[in-house]
Parts: sequence; C-alpha cells; structure tokens
Amino acid sequence: MKTKFFNSLFWKLSAAFAVILILLSGIFVYVAVFSAEMYFQETRQKLDTDIAEHIAQENQCFINGEVNTEILKNVFHDVMVINPSIEVYLLDTGGKILSYYAPDKTVKVTHVPLEPIEEFINAGEEKFLMGLDPKNPQNKKVFSAAGVIEDGKLRGYIYVILGSEEYDNASQLLFGSYILRLGLRSISISLAAALLLSFIIVGFATGKLRKITSVIRNFKNGDLSTRINIKSKSELGEFADSFNDMADTIVQNIDEIKKIDYLRRELIANVSHDLRTPISIIHGYLETVLIKSDSLSDEEKTKYIETTLSNTKRLQSLVEELFELSKLEAEQSQPNMETFSIAELIQDIQQKNLLELKSKNINLIIDFPQNLKMIKADIAMMEKVFQNLLDNSIKFTSAGGEIIIKLLNNDKTVLVKFSDTGSGIEKDDLPFIFERYQKSKRVVSNQKGTGLGLAIVKKILELHGINISVESEKEKGTTFYFEIPYV
Ligand SMILES: Nc1ncnc2c1ncn2[C@@H]1O[C@H](COP(=O)(O)OP(=O)(O)OP(=O)(O)O)[C@@H](O)[C@H]1O
Ligand SMILES: [Mg+2]
Repeated sequence: MKTKFFNSLFWKLSAAFAVILILLSGIFVYVAVFSAEMYFQETRQKLDTDIAEHIAQENQCFINGEVNTEILKNVFHDVMVINPSIEVYLLDTGGKILSYYAPDKTVKVTHVPLEPIEEFINAGEEKFLMGLDPKNPQNKKVFSAAGVIEDGKLRGYIYVILGSEEYDNASQLLFGSYILRLGLRSISISLAAALLLSFIIVGFATGKLRKITSVIRNFKNGDLSTRINIKSKSELGEFADSFNDMADTIVQNIDEIKKIDYLRRELIANVSHDLRTPISIIHGYLETVLIKSDSLSDEEKTKYIETTLSNTKRLQSLVEELFELSKLEAEQSQPNMETFSIAELIQDIQQKNLLELKSKNINLIIDFPQNLKMIKADIAMMEKVFQNLLDNSIKFTSAGGEIIIKLLNNDKTVLVKFSDTGSGIEKDDLPFIFERYQKSKRVVSNQKGTGLGLAIVKKILELHGINISVESEKEKGTTFYFEIPYV
C-alpha cells in the first residue's frame, strides 16, 4: 500500500510541483539578496566616489618623493574616526602599500592590483568596479581611488575601501536580521500557500483519474453496466465519454453475439430435425425394397422408389436453400448490380412455371405500364425472390385462384405488389413468416416447405437496401409489397 502511494500519480505530480516551487523560491531569494547587496555597494561607490580625490588634494602625502608619514597617520586616523566604514591606503605607482591606519595590523597583502584603480580613475562614476580588500584579500570591495601628484609627477595613489571589514559584517548582519528575514518569511508563507494549492489541484485531477480507473476495473471484472460519470468538456471528460461509448458498443456486440449464438443453436436443432425426417423415410423405403424385394409387386416397387426419389429431392432442396441462406447471412454473396427490366424477368419466370400453374389451374397476371422504368439490381437474386414468392402463392392457392403481380412507377422506385387469392396467413403468424423455419403452424395440409423461402427473400432484399412488407387476410389472400430503386 505504501509503495503504491509513492508510485501514484498524485504523489509524483505533487512532488514535482513541490520541487519546482522550492527551487524557484531558492533562486528568487538568492537573486533578491544578491541584487540588493550589489545595489547597496553600487550606491556606496557613487556616493563616496570623490573621497579619495579629496584626501589626495587636501593633504601633502609626499615631500620630495618621500611619504609624509606624520601627516598621513593623523589624516587616516581622523577620516576613519569620522567614518568607521572606510579604510584608507597610500600606494606607490606599482601598487605597493606604503601607509595605512590599522590598529589591529591585520593587513594581509603588501600589494594591491592597479588595473581596477586605473580603470576607476579613467572611467569615474560611470562604472561599478570592485577592488582587492587588503584586510580580506579573498573578498572584493567597492572603492574610491585617486592619483597623488607632487611637483607635477605621479607619486602614487590614495585607495579607499568603502565598507570596511567591520562594516561588512555589520551589513551582513543587517541583511540577515531584517530584509532577508522579512523576505524569507513572506516567501515561506507564499510557498506554503502555493504548495497547498498545488496539492489540492493535483488531488482534484488525479481523483477523477482514480474514479475512471476504478470504473474500468469494474467493467473488466464483468460489471458491464458501469459507466464513468464525469460531465466536463476537458480531456478527461472526453476520455470518459469515449470509454462510455466503447462500453455501450461492447455490450451491444455481446448482445448481438448472444442472439446470433441462440439462432445458430436453434438452426442446428431445426436442420438436424428436417434432415432426419427425409433421411429416415428414404432409409425405410430402401430397406423395405431390399428385404421384401421378392414379395413386392412392380407397382409397389415403383411407388416406393418414387417416394424415395421425392424425399431425396426435398433433401437436396433443403441443403441447397440452407447453403444459400447461410451464404447470404454471412454476407459472402454481394449483389452484382445490373440494369434490367423487371417486367421481362417476371415474364421469364412465368414461362418457367407455366406447367405447374396450368396443372393447379391458377391464373398468373402480370400488370405493368408501358413506360415502366428500368431497375438496378442483381438479376439472379431478384429471380430467386420472385420464384420463392411464386412458389408460396402456388403452394397456398387452390385451383381456380389468381396470382397478380402489379408493377408501378413510383417516385424513385418501381413498386411491386405481389398478391394471390390463396389461404392467407393467420394474424399471429404474420410477424414471423420472414424468420427461418417459420412455417405457419396452422397450415397443416402443407408439410413440404422447409420454411427458408421467405427468409431468403428478405435477406436478398436487405442486401439491396429494400424493405418488404406483407398484408394478408385469412381465406382471402396475401399481398407482399416492396420497392426496387430505378437506375
Ligand atoms: N402466399 C402465401 N399464402 C399463405 N401463406 C404463406 C404465403 N407465403 C408464405 N406463407 C406462410 O409463411 C410460411 C413461410 O414461408 P416460406 O416460404 O418461408 O417457407 P415455406 O414455403 O414453408 O418453405 P420453403 O419456401 O422453404 O419451401 C409458409 O409456411 C406459410 O405458412
Ligand atoms: Mg416458400
């Protein structure tokens, strides 16, 4: 649990925020203190820039090239008594310290580098310059400097450190005790506030993430109804919406697969039943013919063989239709769209079925206008549709009945009205006739159908994007309607 917490996004983001904030505060404090210190030094140099010049001009530092020790001691002493923050040195032209006032004798070097001094004298107030502090050689200090001239000759320099060792310490103390402490206090307060705020923000964002993760985990564990409840237009909201959509799709697909699986099982059960019946009939008759071959009359033999043959035909058509339907359902066969006249196709079908129509004494009327539009569809598939519908109408219409196929130019389609004066379909059966194996339970007289004909019709029309509907009245007849688009 502990390692989990330290691995969590909340902890990582918070730590990153904290480090950045502390780093920024540190840099800020350093820059602030450093620039305050520098500003202070620069101001000192500007204010006291002429101090060395004054000392050099007011006093006779050299007499005939020799250092005027007596006067200098007094002058240096007086200056430092008045302003204890400065230290005065007399240098020769090579930078060597000739004289100074230092009661504790702590001067640690004999020479002072001359470059900054010369630069100071040449540049004047313009530049911020620092020079060596003889009492504290590792530290650089602001200074004032001036050349000492005797008899028109440069004899040396007056070099004034502005901010003696004691003063330096005192100034540090001042910074430490006041400005820095004040600054540190306000920075600490704002740092604490910023950290608190960042923890809250990070906590809020990662809280949503935790919520999302837990929902996804529940979904993974089988709770398919769970959804992420985040209503926001942010990336997280978008993520939640996408997950919810994905979950809906998955659930929908699962339902679909379950339905298909159920249908498949039902199909297998029905197919085995439908195959078993003709096979056992064939088997029985063949066995009888074989065993009782001697005792059977020729007439009986012929009858038995004919029955066997008709059952083989039934078996064959069943297998063919099953194969056809499963191909259509697997969407392996796609319609091969061609332009043709639907009226001509129906006339062809009529020719093929003339014998059967005649033997059942059924009149087939094809009614269409002269200017009937051409349609675009798969010819072979459309032939199958009309053949199946015609099979049914012939099967369920008694002698003397009529089958009327009416074709009409509609807005963008040819409207097909396929009606017969047959037995009609029970109201309760109507919604199911397009499902496979759905045979009207009440039509007992006819056991020949496989119950696949209309399922095939519907599937073919579906592949063409066409809907089929049906109207039927018991003992009056049945009408199928559908519309085939123009070219
Ligand atoms: N024109 C019709 N008149 C009366 N009933 C019909 C008509 N067309 C279909 N039916 C009913 O709908 C059922 C399903 O028809 P479908 O064509 O799918 O199967 P089938 O004709 O029984 O078998 P198959 O066509 O596979 O040989 C039929 O069994 C019948 O009860
Ligand atoms: Mg049929």
